[in-house]
Formats: sequence, C-alpha cells, structure tokens
Amino acid sequence: MSMTSDPTFWMPSAAATQAEVVDLLYYFLYYVSVGSFVVIMSALMYFVYRYRAKSKGERAVSAGGHNTLLEIGWTLPPAIVSVFVFVVGAKGYIDMKSPPADSMEIGVTAYKWAWQFSYPNGHRDPNLHVPPNRPVRLVMSSDDVLHSFFVPSFRIKQDIVPGRYTEVWFHAVESGEFQIFCTEYCGTKHSEMLAKVTVHESDESYQKWLESQGDILDRLPPEQAGEQLVASNGCTACHSLNGTNGVGPSFKGAWGQERAFVDGNTALMDENYVRNSIINPAGQVVKGYAPVMPTFQGKLKDREIDAIIAYLKTLKE
Ligand code: CUA
Repeated sequence: MSMTSDPTFWMPSAAATQAEVVDLLYYFLYYVSVGSFVVIMSALMYFVYRYRAKSKGERAVSAGGHNTLLEIGWTLPPAIVSVFVFVVGAKGYIDMKSPPADSMEIGVTAYKWAWQFSYPNGHRDPNLHVPPNRPVRLVMSSDDVLHSFFVPSFRIKQDIVPGRYTEVWFHAVESGEFQIFCTEYCGTKHSEMLAKVTVHESDESYQKWLESQGDILDRLPPEQAGEQLVASNGCTACHSLNGTNGVGPSFKGAWGQERAFVDGNTALMDENYVRNSIINPAGQVVKGYAPVMPTFQGKLKDREIDAIIAYLKTLKE
C-alpha cells in the first residue's frame, strides 16, 4: 500500500501513518461488499427467471441434495475474508492503542466549546501544532461533558471523558493544516467546537513557532494580550463581541453595566465581577442564561485574567 495524500470520493487526505491500515480495510470491505452485491443479485435474478412458474398451477419440484463443492464454496471464501479482516484489524487496533515510547506528549483539555492544547514549555493554545515525522501522544481530559477528538486526515478518533485521562497518538507524514472536530454531541455549540492541527515543515519551524508564542503577556500590551486570550480560550464561542447575546451575554458595551442575576442579586461588571465569573462562573449567573460556563481556574493565570479585564474595558462602546 502506498501512502496517498489526495482526498478520494470516500476518504479525506491521508496524512498520518494510521491511515494506511484504516484505508486498506475500508477499501477491502468496500470492494468485497460491491463484489458480493453483484454476485448475489445476479444469482438472485437468474434464479427468479430460471425457476419461475411457467404455467398456472405448476408445482415446485424439490431439488434437495448435497453438493460438497457448493458447501465449500460458500464457506471458505467468507471465512478467509473474515480472518483477514480480523487479523489486519486487530493489528491495526493494537498499534493505534500503543503509542511509541519516544512519543512527544501534548496535553489536551476539552470544554464547552473549545480545545486547549498544552505544550511541554507551558504554552497553551487553541490549536494543535506538531513537528513533522515524529510520533505525538495526546493526553486528554474534559472539564465538563463527553467530547471526542477527531482528525479525519489522521484517521484517529478518541472520546474524552470527564474525570479520567484518555490518550490517542499519531505520526503525521505530511505537513500542512488539518481539521479537528468534536465528534460527540456536547451541547449547543458542539458543531462549532473546531480546531486545526498544523504539522510544521521542519523541527526548526515548530520550535520557532513555540518560542514565538512564548509569553504573549511579555510581548503585547495587556489589552492586545487580553484580546488574544479571549479568542484563544474560546470565550467568543458564547460571548459575542458585536452585541448579539448567544449562549452567554455579549461582551460589547458590558463593562461597567449593572448585571441582574438569577438569584435576584445584582452587581456592576467590574474587575472583581469579571474575575469571579472566570474562576467561579456558577456563582453569579446572569438572568436569562443557563449556568453552562466551565471554570477557567487553573487554565488562566492571574496575569492573564488582568489582561482579559483590560481588553473587556476597551469594549465599553
Ligand atoms: Cu465537544 Cu461535541
């Protein structure tokens, strides 16, 4: 089997090693099914014609008897097909479940409704970046409900379950950008829980990217760092920047306004309110909204929350 990277009618591009066995089995079963369909339907139609009732009231004649060749013919080929699928499938499955010992590790956190990838140097990013030609093991957990990590071009898919770690690994063989989906229904914005995996051209370009990401708080003024953090942590999935209220209230024009909560209390949207809402979102739920926001405790450092506050202030009008 050669590695093809072009998408076909049935499959997206094949950009990781696991694609080989998946596609081999897929096409094998596909052609076996097509072949069986043609053979069985042809036989069916032939028998319908051959053994039709030729005159009214004609009785069926018993043609019972034993035919060894026929018995072997319809037993052996399906048995060989089944054993082949089992052996190749089991080997492929074991390989998929066994990350190589020298894999590079990246952490994945799934939450409603975004992804966060944690790199060895502590950087966190809404997208996955990897160097080329080396195995990568993802150690994944969920902050809230069941999600599932799916990269069609890598042929990998793994559920992410709250309260435990799950893992998946891949070895990308092609550089470029590939789509990540959440493939377990996880609520309103499930279909928008998207991210990209970028397989870099070289180790150097990966390292360069990682270093350039460094600490945005050191590189940018707080408002700009805050803007990036709001985007990269998926806040805008629920809190729009244009005044439209979605799953959560819009950020636009919200700073300094009075907010009414489901428990009847009110508060001004100030520094403490924003901080509390990030750390303990269930504490002050704005009237008319459901308490669906996950906590960002541990995901955002204090300095990052400061930057987000600075950014929210700029959205006053
Ligand atoms: Cu997360 Cu669907």
